[in-house]
Amino acid sequence: MGANARAPRAARGARRRARAYCSSANLGPGFDAFGLALDAFYDEVSVSIAGRNSGSGRISITSTGPRRGPAGRAAPLLPADPDSNTAGLVARHMLKSHDITDDITIAIKKGVPTGLGLGSSAASAAAAAVACDSLFGLGLAPAELVAAAGEGERASAGTVHYDNVAASVMGGFVVVRPGSPMALAGFRPSPRLRFCVAIPTIKVPDKKTAVSRGVLPKKVPLGDSASNTANAALLAAALATGDNSMLGSGITADAIAEPARKHMIPGFERVKEAALGAGAKEVMISGAGPSVISITTGAPKTQQKITAAMSAGFRSVGVPCRTVVCRPAGGARIVS
Ligand code: HSE
Repeated sequence: MGANARAPRAARGARRRARAYCSSANLGPGFDAFGLALDAFYDEVSVSIAGRNSGSGRISITSTGPRRGPAGRAAPLLPADPDSNTAGLVARHMLKSHDITDDITIAIKKGVPTGLGLGSSAASAAAAAVACDSLFGLGLAPAELVAAAGEGERASAGTVHYDNVAASVMGGFVVVRPGSPMALAGFRPSPRLRFCVAIPTIKVPDKKTAVSRGVLPKKVPLGDSASNTANAALLAAALATGDNSMLGSGITADAIAEPARKHMIPGFERVKEAALGAGAKEVMISGAGPSVISITTGAPKTQQKITAAMSAGFRSVGVPCRTVVCRPAGGARIVS
């Protein structure tokens, strides 16, 4: 995104509120490349002009949301410091890139549970990017919005990765390749697909994504790379063509991240086995975990069997969890 010499005009008090859905990243073999927006939870971010052309571009942040996350765990309050807050980082980056010197206020309404592998920070980042884009009339292209939203991932992951933000910005299934230029492809998967998500109540480390990235191998054997490439291509093809018959042949098997991370999810193997036994086509870690996601083409009865089996899998190792059945969600949008 290049700097914009002309500071876009927006009146003091002007405000935009954007909504962005949660997402599941990786989907097995697509580490850092695949994302899927899900209609289970969403965040809303309002951005308003607090003062015009103050010259300092001050950002103040408030946040609201459940004190306890949906899985019953304590939900930490979001940091008010813009440099440690996902939405704040996105807004700061956008203001700076476009020479905007207004003071702004950001109000975040969290709906996506944090630290559970559902792209919580990305949902706030995507909503912040879309709200700023609209408020300042920037007219950014999807790849520019994704790049801006990716800046927010620094707050939670320590590094920029774009899979969750691309899904939350664009909606549906996305493939993203970072770099210059960023390459992005996205589409809505078959409406017959349902995604059963089990969200365990376990204590996750602070900066969980950074910790989960720290356990990944620095080098990958050629065979593992080849198998992930084949599976990733097959999964993308299945989702793009709607050929659901390809699901169920293990095309979400991941030889790289899952083996390195599964020890961080108590009962993962049992949950996976139970879900497959109940009729799930594919089962994988959602993002960096600890949530687990299954794909099914089955009727509501099958979906219930799968979620019950996933719950039982976690319960068998003494871990309570909640489950949700969801569909692909649309992209981030202005709601007022
Ligand atoms: N692709 C990222 C990871 C998603 O697996 O680390 C986490 O948000």
